[in-house]
Amino acid sequence: MNFAHRKPCDHRAMSTLTTAPVKPLLATLFADARRTQERFRLQRADLLAQGHRPGSPEFAAATRQAHLAVTPETGQLLYLLTRTAKARTVVEFGTSFGVSTLHLAAALRDNGTGTLITTELEPTKAAATRATLAEAGLADLVEILEGDARQTLPQRRPRPIDLLFLDGANHLYVEVLRLLEPDLAPGALVVADNAGAPGYRDYLATQDRYVSVSVGERVEVTVVAD
Ligand SMILES: C[S@@+](CC[C@H](N)C(=O)[O-])C[C@H]1O[C@@H](n2cnc3c(N)ncnc32)[C@H](O)[C@@H]1O
Repeated sequence: MNFAHRKPCDHRAMSTLTTAPVKPLLATLFADARRTQERFRLQRADLLAQGHRPGSPEFAAATRQAHLAVTPETGQLLYLLTRTAKARTVVEFGTSFGVSTLHLAAALRDNGTGTLITTELEPTKAAATRATLAEAGLADLVEILEGDARQTLPQRRPRPIDLLFLDGANHLYVEVLRLLEPDLAPGALVVADNAGAPGYRDYLATQDRYVSVSVGERVEVTVVAD
C-alpha cells in the first residue's frame, strides 16, 4: 500500500482530551459522577420496589442530581470513533453534566471543525454543562437543545449526521434512533451506552442497513450501510 499521499501527523501535536483545560475538568466530573452514582443506585432500587418506572416523575426527580456518566473507557471510545470517522456533525441524546459531551467536543476540536448537537431534559444539567464547556474552551462547537429530545431534535434537524450517541432515557433509544434515521449519513456510526435497553438490540437486528457489534456489556457500535 502506498501512503506517500498522506500527510504525516505532527509528532509534537497534543490531544485536546489529554491536556488542560479538558483533562483536569474531566477528572473533576468523573469524581462527581462516582459520588452521585452510588446515591442514585440506592434511590433507583427503592423506586422500582415502590412500583415506579423509568420515565415517571419520581425517576426524573432522582436523576436530576445524578451524572449517570459514561465510563472513562466509553468516553475514550467516543473520542476515538469521532476522530477516526472524521465526524463533522454529531448528535447526542442525553447530555447530563457533560462527560460524554466533553469527549465528543474534544474530538471535533482535534478533527479541525464540526458541530455537536446535544440534548438534555433537565435545565439545571444543561446550564451546568454550558458552564463546563465554556471553561473547557469548547463552547463554540456545541449546541445544547434543552427539553425532550423527541421535540427539540425534529425542530433543529441536524443533517447529515456522522455520529449519533444514544445515552438518554433508555426506553426511548429505538424511538430517537427511528426519528433520526432519515438524517444518518451513509457510513454513519450509532453508538449506544446501556445498549441492553429494552428492544434496542432486537430493533437493530431487524434492520438490514445496520452492521453492529457489542463492545463490552454496555456499549453497542453500529455502522449504517451506504
Ligand atoms: C445517562 S445520562 C447521560 C450521561 C451523559 N451522556 C454523560 O456521559 O455524562 C441521561 C440523561 O438523559 C436525560 N434525558 C432523559 N430523557 C431525555 C429526553 N427525552 N430528552 C433529553 N434528555 C433526556 C436525563 O435528564 C439525563 O441527564
